[in-house]
Amino acid sequence: MSFAYEVFQVLYFFLPAYLANMSPVLIGRRFSALAIPLDGGRTLWGKRILGDHKTWRGLLAGIVAGTLIFELQRLVYEAGIAQALVVIDYSAHPLLPGLLMGLGAGIGDAVKSFFKRRIDIEPGKSWLVFDQLDFFLGAYVFVSLVYAPPVLLILASLPVVLIGNITSNAVGYWLGFKETWI
Ligand code: CTP
Ligand code: MG
Repeated sequence: MSFAYEVFQVLYFFLPAYLANMSPVLIGRRFSALAIPLDGGRTLWGKRILGDHKTWRGLLAGIVAGTLIFELQRLVYEAGIAQALVVIDYSAHPLLPGLLMGLGAGIGDAVKSFFKRRIDIEPGKSWLVFDQLDFFLGAYVFVSLVYAPPVLLILASLPVVLIGNITSNAVGYWLGFKETWI
């Protein structure tokens, strides 16, 4: 099997993480009762810990999306479709890896926001590369508890994730989901 194909398999494995990362934007203004900031409005050294853009609604949406997409991948696998794409036995791993990817994506994103606030980048303002890779690295760390793809394949996936994320963000902006094009 070629290296490029193995990278492709890893990208397919992390599908729940991409959808988890998009879910807070896709959910829009629904479930407004959950639109509470994760940091509860608290500050650290006079600056918001995470800021208003990191909410419980977004974190929970990511956990649900990650779990559902992973479950869908399991059903596809068990139906005998796209089996050449898989790196794990989905039948032996129900739900948990998807939940971990969704949670990890959200925590990776929030940790990134923590650092953005420390260096005075406002919520919603771009921090190139970090904004694009945060969720992927978070998902990788968390899902490693169950299955860790080889580090070399993760590193090779990063440029694809970066470009893919910039592209989908631009499409999201064009469709009116995102406020900024990057
Ligand atoms: N979002 C949310 N809760 C989360 C993550 C995201 O409600 N835990 C929503 C917010 O409305 C946010 C949007 O999804 O504006 C896009 O998220 P993202 O691009 O990750 O955040 P930024 O707006 O860039 O904010 P920050 O500077 O804190 O990263
Ligand atoms: Mg983000």
